[in-house]
Amino acid sequence: MLSVVILAAGFGTRMKSKEPKVLHKICGKSMIEYAIDTALQISSDVHIILYNQQEKIKEFLQTKYAWYISDKITLHTQLHDIYPGTGGALMNDCKELIALQGEKVLVLSGDAPLVTSSDLMKLVNGSGAINLAMFETNNPYGYGRIIKKETENRMQECEILGIVEEKDCTIEQKQITSVNGGIYCFDRAILESYIPKLDNENSQKEYYLTQVIELACKDSNKVFAFMCCEKNMLGVNTKLHLAAAEQIMLDRLRNRAMEQGVIMQIPESIYLDYEVSFEGECLIENGVRITGKSHIKESHIKAHSVVEQSEIIQSDIGPHAHIRPNSKIKDSHIGNFVECKNADLQGIKAGHLSYLGDCVVQEGSNIGAGVITCNYDGIKKNKTHIGKNVFVGSDCQLVAPVTIEDNVLIGAGSTITKDIAKGSLALSRSKQINYANGFYGFFSKK
Ligand code: UD1
Ligand code: CA
Repeated sequence: MLSVVILAAGFGTRMKSKEPKVLHKICGKSMIEYAIDTALQISSDVHIILYNQQEKIKEFLQTKYAWYISDKITLHTQLHDIYPGTGGALMNDCKELIALQGEKVLVLSGDAPLVTSSDLMKLVNGSGAINLAMFETNNPYGYGRIIKKETENRMQECEILGIVEEKDCTIEQKQITSVNGGIYCFDRAILESYIPKLDNENSQKEYYLTQVIELACKDSNKVFAFMCCEKNMLGVNTKLHLAAAEQIMLDRLRNRAMEQGVIMQIPESIYLDYEVSFEGECLIENGVRITGKSHIKESHIKAHSVVEQSEIIQSDIGPHAHIRPNSKIKDSHIGNFVECKNADLQGIKAGHLSYLGDCVVQEGSNIGAGVITCNYDGIKKNKTHIGKNVFVGSDCQLVAPVTIEDNVLIGAGSTITKDIAKGSLALSRSKQINYANGFYGFFSKK
């Protein structure tokens, strides 16, 4: 059996944020969720180590993983005051290893969201007493440097002697470009032996998990490092790293969508959240942002439109449209500068400059330019119902709650405050009066 430990107790000081580091999001999904979802794929004994801002993190986990927390996930509080550091994170109050069921223990970092399950399988299947992920980088600053065995010249997999942290490196060691990914698979027996032996005699006065490697090597245990891709190993310590990690994740999400048959124009300008899904052939133009659990099916989203937590089916949207949460748009044409929110639109046209909020519009209806559903009365949100084949002239205000039945025609510029019965023509505007020669009368010099 395999246990997984996720380290998420640190202060994340370099992040310079009020939010706990591991709750920062990459493509709409927090870093700790990436680690937990990966862990749950391969283990039913998952342990999360918390300390800094743990109440906030626990509250978040309760909403996302309530069921798992009673079953597969155990939350721990690190005794950070007495045992700080990534090694301290695995200590109980007697400085021994916390209780874990698995014979093997995979340790993940809550700040490494890009790790793939194939990286992890390399470590789980490794033949060392410790198997860890390493990568090559041009910028090793901040990472633990890998000290390889002198006779070692293999690239993909090699035997190592230890890891030296940035702050403890000599000038020569700082030149090493093979670094620790912070992800390890230990035999549990190794952790049981060496966790109690860790000391904090280093520049940060912390109990480093990486010291386990040095101690295990001295006792002739085999430690192997497996070469992984730098892009999967990025550890997010700063907001610069957060942006870099998001770029990598976006590439993955866009590539996956294009492989599924989505056409993207200037793909690098398109933002997608992790949970966005596509179906059938879609065309996404440049500058589009799609977030939340949106689903786009056989649709064309034109340049610079934003779609949030909505469903778009066989429709064209934009350019410059804003589709806000809980909208369902099917067989419709939504044109430029139209904003929708909680709108159920089926088989309609709204070509220009409208606000359609908290409304249902049925097939065959046409919403003229500048139409507004006045959904908010200052206290609560109200609904607008528009039936089939309704023609709403330009620049109308529909003051909700209001129901407009089928086959209604509303004259341009009307303010509608009362329900309209099927088949009616509704007008609510003052009559136009034309005065012959009024222009000359008004402007002519006496
Ligand atoms: C760590 C490794 C370093 C590796 C790098 C990879 C150590 C000593 N160093 O450095 O070799 O190259 O990751 O990204 O392990 N945490 C706790 N309790 C603590 C301190 C940290 O749970 O007392 C957690 C953090 O919340 C974080 C993870 O452990 O999720 C890593 O901690 P961090 O401080 O970011 O370590 P690095 O300096 O990046
Ligand atoms: Ca880190």
